[in-house]
Formats: sequence, C-alpha cells, structure tokens
Amino acid sequence: MELSEGLRTRRSTRVFLDTPVQKDTLRRIVESAQRAPSAGNMQPWELFAVCGETMERLRSAVNAAFEGDGAIASPGLAKPAPERYSERRRGLYREAEPFFRRIGCGGEFIPEGSFRFFGAPAVVMVYVHEDLLPGRLVCCGSIMTYLTLAAHAEGLGTCAIGFVRTADRQMREVLSVPPELAFVVAVAAGYPNPASPANEFCSSRASVDEVCRFFD
Ligand SMILES: Cc1cc2nc3c(=O)[nH]c(=O)nc-3n(C[C@H](O)[C@H](O)[C@H](O)COP(=O)(O)O)c2cc1C
Repeated sequence: MELSEGLRTRRSTRVFLDTPVQKDTLRRIVESAQRAPSAGNMQPWELFAVCGETMERLRSAVNAAFEGDGAIASPGLAKPAPERYSERRRGLYREAEPFFRRIGCGGEFIPEGSFRFFGAPAVVMVYVHEDLLPGRLVCCGSIMTYLTLAAHAEGLGTCAIGFVRTADRQMREVLSVPPELAFVVAVAAGYPNPASPANEFCSSRASVDEVCRFFD
C-alpha cells in the first residue's frame, strides 16, 4: 500500500471479524511501528501486545470494571475543552450515530463498545514511565499513530481507545504492568467486518485553513 493511500484510507474500525490475529502479525506491526520518531530517540513507550486467551481475560476484566461501577471517565482532560474542540467531539457523535443505529446502537456505542475493545481479537496497550510525564506523552502519540498505520498496511483495522483508562487497575492485574508505568492508550486491532454499516462511518475533518496558519 502506498503511504499516501494508507494515510487517506485509515479510519477507526469498531466492528471486527472473529478471525484471530496471530502473535507473529502483532510482532510485525510493532516492528514497523517501532520506526516512530521520538524526542532524543528515547522510544519512551512500553508496549503490551495482546491476543489469544490473554485478550479474552483482558476483555473480561475491563468489562467487569465497566459493569461494576459503570463509570466512564471523560477523556483524560484536566479542564473542560474549549468550545471549538468540544463542538468537534459532539460532531463525532452526531455524525456517527446514524451508522451505529444501523447496527442497533446509538452514540453510546463508542463508550460502551470501548469497554469490550469493540470485540477486537487483539490490542496493543501503550504505557509510559511515570517519570517521563507529561513531556514524553507526545512520543506515545507518535507510536500510537504508527501502530494504527502499520496495522492498516497489514490489512487490519484499529481503534485507539482511551476510555478503558477507567479500568486501569484491572488491566494492570491481567498484564502484570509494573507500578511505575502509566497507561496512555490502547490500540484495538483486528480484521474489519466489511459487512458492518458501522465500519462505513468516516469521520469528518476541519478544513486545513481552520487548523493551520500558513506563512510564506
Ligand atoms: C488518544 C485517543 C483516544 C481515543 N479513544 C477512543 C475511545 O475510547 N473509543 C473510541 O471509540 N474511539 C476512540 N478514539 C478514536 C477517535 O474517536 C477517532 O480517532 C476520531 O474520531 C477520528 O476518527 P478516525 O480515527 O476514524 O479518523 C481515540 C483516539 C485517540 C487518538
């Protein structure tokens, strides 16, 4: 796949086939993603690539946390987002809902599905050493993006998932995550279900002139 085509066609997948993702495939994806740039080449990310039986244990643990207290944390923001960004988030739910309705869900599909990793057969969990926060969080965004693109090149769909932060303790237990590592984001991965209307959804973007000031 051409890089430009990959950039244009990647989108979040939220309905997956049951087809398993093999450990070797995950390894290839992580190997490619490992070329992600990072400040001082520190490669500060600590990844946990999960499939098979451990994936099911992880899913059960996260799901139990969700059903236990039903708490859905807002996406990691210390303050309310300024209106222009909040409006884009509301826009995501508005745009996506008609597609999710076609599979019998509504806007709640995003938070609720997140707590099942959307049924994905694999996930790459991104953690960072707490002493590197917040400065090196940006590098973790870099590996997250590379993971999504490397998976796309392998024919896999992905969805970055922040909502599972609420189940931090349960995820740590399943994966024996050392206490000094802080959760950043999960990247659920699997083969997209081509027949699902939910996967037809393609989120919009602000115009280039809205997000970028050009100088020459
Ligand atoms: C850090 C981060 C966290 C995200 N968390 C979630 C999540 O918890 N659940 C979800 O369904 N999508 C999540 N997403 C996916 C975004 O909703 C998605 O990337 C955005 O709407 C743009 O759509 P696209 O990926 O299809 O281009 C997250 C994305 C990022 C980058």
